[in-house]
Amino acid sequence: MIQIGVQPATIDAPVDHLVACHRRIEQRLDTLVAAVAHLESDKAAALAAIASSLHFMDTNGAMHTQDEEISLFPRLRSRLSDPEAEFIDSLEAQHLEAEAIYAELKQLISEQRFDAKYLECANRLRTLYRAHILREDETLIALARRTLEESELLQISREMRERRESASTRATNRYMPKQAAQSTPEAIAPGSAVSE
Ligand SMILES: [Fe+2]
Ligand SMILES: [Fe+2]
Repeated sequence: MIQIGVQPATIDAPVDHLVACHRRIEQRLDTLVAAVAHLESDKAAALAAIASSLHFMDTNGAMHTQDEEISLFPRLRSRLSDPEAEFIDSLEAQHLEAEAIYAELKQLISEQRFDAKYLECANRLRTLYRAHILREDETLIALARRTLEESELLQISREMRERRESASTRATNRYMPKQAAQSTPEAIAPGSAVSE
């Protein structure tokens, strides 16, 4: 849900926020697959749904990966067993794999190629993410809850909030006249979901 100028409460519980974000990513990936079936009956709505899902992945999806790679993984690594550290490495490798498939999908969308190749690519991305998210929900989240101390959770929470605030400022500066942007920093572009 878009809440202009309001930071979501779940950022105060950063591990819960990561889990909630997984559900939102899954929803957008489902949309990227399902929207093509509606291109003939309602092209404008289908394209809008695809564009909205891309926007989410480019903003909140990208920040979610940064939350994990910059704020969470480094704090866990030093205290994990070798197999657990290898598990974190494999998650990072999946992030790279997902980014490559996502870039492929965006290229097809930019060419308006909503054919079998698009469906194959969107399904491949969804399959990879589902497996990745399942591993994170089942194992990473338990590692985080077991390992992180209250002070670290607070710091992660702070970093996640700063990440979203700076994204919000960038969106404001991009979409508003300079003077207006400076005077109303809480304003964001319609459709931007920086608070999720
Ligand atoms: Fe991840
Ligand atoms: Fe994740």
